[in-house]
Amino acid sequence: MRSAVHISSAIFALASSVAGLNILLTNDDSWASANIRATFDSLQQDGHNVLLVGPAVQQSGKGGTFVLPTSNIVAPGGEFDSVKVGASFFGQNVTNPNLFYFNGTPAATAGFAIDVVAPIHFNNESIDLVVSGPNEGQNNGPYLYTLSGTIGATYYSVERGIPAVAFSAGNSTHRSFTTNTGLPDDPANQAAKVTDPNAA
Ligand SMILES: *[C@@H]1O[C@H](CO)[C@@H](O)[C@H](O)[C@H]1NC(C)=O
Ligand SMILES: *[C@@H]1O[C@H](CO)[C@@H](O)[C@H](O)[C@H]1NC(C)=O
Ligand SMILES: *[C@@H]1O[C@H](CO)[C@@H](O)[C@H](O)[C@H]1NC(C)=O
Repeated sequence: MRSAVHISSAIFALASSVAGLNILLTNDDSWASANIRATFDSLQQDGHNVLLVGPAVQQSGKGGTFVLPTSNIVAPGGEFDSVKVGASFFGQNVTNPNLFYFNGTPAATAGFAIDVVAPIHFNNESIDLVVSGPNEGQNNGPYLYTLSGTIGATYYSVERGIPAVAFSAGNSTHRSFTTNTGLPDDPANQAAKVTDPNAA
């Protein structure tokens, strides 16, 4: 099978031998993107304790900027209609308590997750690893260190003393998790599979 997935950013050094990590999963393309949800499923299937906290809306190109929300969710709502207009600036999926959105840039989302959500979610256990992405599209080249929100979330986390790794997938289609075909050749599932090769 020709793979549409191309991981350009990093090596997932811990995953091959360690199960049951407390993983904070974030990104820049929003909490509702197909890639992050497929990767959430993969990491969870692999036995990790995964907390997803992603931006409420697309935050591509924001690098490591730290912009906190100043209002509740404004029109047109969360990405792909995932959050209603007027909803709180952060929130939790009502049926899956591991899924959160936050209406900030990727670095600010990581900060909120590290300081507010994770201590409750992980019962004050430390976060072992921050995983960011897989980004929709490639993050190749040194300039992306300042441009990529996917990478911005990771260097913010590293500055906070938490190991972090960013992933990027060659397919740049911006799409909702609700469009995932569920088939192994869905580009989001391929990206998730490359991110965590141990997953079923
Ligand atoms: C990228 O993903 C979209 C949506 O799944 C798909 O239709 C398209 O064929 C993919 N592109 C490549 C080059 O694989
Ligand atoms: C919330 O989680 C449920 C169960 O996993 C899922 O069916 C639903 O689409 C999710 N909605 C959002 C906006 O995340
Ligand atoms: C986590 O630590 C805070 C601050 O020390 C404490 O107030 C809180 O009760 C702790 N929560 C749990 C679940 O242990």
